[in-house]
Amino acid sequence: MNILILGSGGREHALAWAVKQNPKTDRLIVAPGNAGIAQLAECADIDILSGQAVVTFCEENAIDFVIVGPEAPLAAGVADATRAAGLLTFGPSAAAAKLEASKAFTKEICDACAAPTAAYARFTEAAPARAYVTAQGAPIVIKADGLAAGKGVIVAMTLDEALAAIDDMFGGEFGAAGAEVVIEEFMQGEEASFFILTDGTHALPIGTAQDHKRVGDGDTGPNTGGMGAYSPAPVLTDAIAQRAMDEIVLPTIREMARRGTPYQGVLYAGLMIEQGRARLVEYNARFGDPECQVLMMRLGAQALDLLLACAEGRLDQARVNWADDHALTVVMATKGYPGRYSKGSAIRGLDALPETSSQMVFHAGTTARDGQITATGGRVLNVTARGATLAEAQARAYAIVDAIDWPEGFCRRDIGWRAL
Ligand code: AMP
Ligand code: GLY
Repeated sequence: MNILILGSGGREHALAWAVKQNPKTDRLIVAPGNAGIAQLAECADIDILSGQAVVTFCEENAIDFVIVGPEAPLAAGVADATRAAGLLTFGPSAAAAKLEASKAFTKEICDACAAPTAAYARFTEAAPARAYVTAQGAPIVIKADGLAAGKGVIVAMTLDEALAAIDDMFGGEFGAAGAEVVIEEFMQGEEASFFILTDGTHALPIGTAQDHKRVGDGDTGPNTGGMGAYSPAPVLTDAIAQRAMDEIVLPTIREMARRGTPYQGVLYAGLMIEQGRARLVEYNARFGDPECQVLMMRLGAQALDLLLACAEGRLDQARVNWADDHALTVVMATKGYPGRYSKGSAIRGLDALPETSSQMVFHAGTTARDGQITATGGRVLNVTARGATLAEAQARAYAIVDAIDWPEGFCRRDIGWRAL
């Protein structure tokens, strides 16, 4: 079949890598793609936020299956447009993707289905929000309702920080995303990510992961989009995962279907685990980045069969063939990230690296010019490896990191520490 993947990051490189290994794949196109993706698929420069542009491209290229990677096209209704055009599509409708696009909506769903999550209140004006946090005290969590590229959440450890966050959000710091603010109880515990495929009715867990959000070793320094990840997440034991399915995920899926907006795609549940029980932190309507890279490394070619079963509404017949393995990815970023950084530095040594079913350098922000790979983003490479143990996966990943010649880049040296 002819497959189109939308997106341009390490997540989409990993999806393309797994899909490409499946013999069902004839032609693979990624839009817009990047320099690493171009080594295994065709790249196409189309406006992936335009449903019409995507549908036209699919018709011109006889696409059989569309996989939507990032949240922005989902929130823009691209999966609605491709489905309306009769194209088999992996990814939720805009109405279902509200589970990521609106934090207040997610809270409403949790209330409706009694899913455990932090206590909260919603505000559209600063004065009552300020009064509320003053009464509640710190620590407390202030969230812009809408999509804010991962920056709309302030975990305020003091009352002053909380009040400043409220003023920033209502002052327009996050644009329309901050027109409504959700204020939440601060939850203690250890975070983990749980990935579930659902076709709207059936659900199939496809793995757990943990990421490292802080830029510095020992989980210090500013927050980032994620500096590394590993799967499985030992904190999310089978028993806790099963309980999270029963108390959070399945009730959410039923509630979305009951409202006439069934969720179809991957549901990424961010969980806070404390004393053997998970509470929901947030939902995302897509694979995590870089969590997808470790999930794809573990699933390999069967990932396509699972995504197809999801899109075709037959997840009840699908199962995951697990190897007893571990995967770990190290993000290499341009020095200065997540603050200011320069673009265009040359990365050498990638050609000499073996690419196998247990090690791969996924590209997140690169372009190729005259045969030279250059860095064009903050997060640039995702050095990913698999092993029989997490320690083995980690050692493999860092051996590859050390073979990459990129003086302008850096990475954390302790990815996986919590689980080792
Ligand atoms: P979110 O974008 O909702 O995932 O929030 C980003 C990060 O903020 C999460 O990964 C958590 O580390 C933290 N966070 C969000 N909500 C809470 C909460 N209610 N209690 C504690 N930490 C939270
Ligand atoms: N790595 C976190 C995310 O994709 O949202």
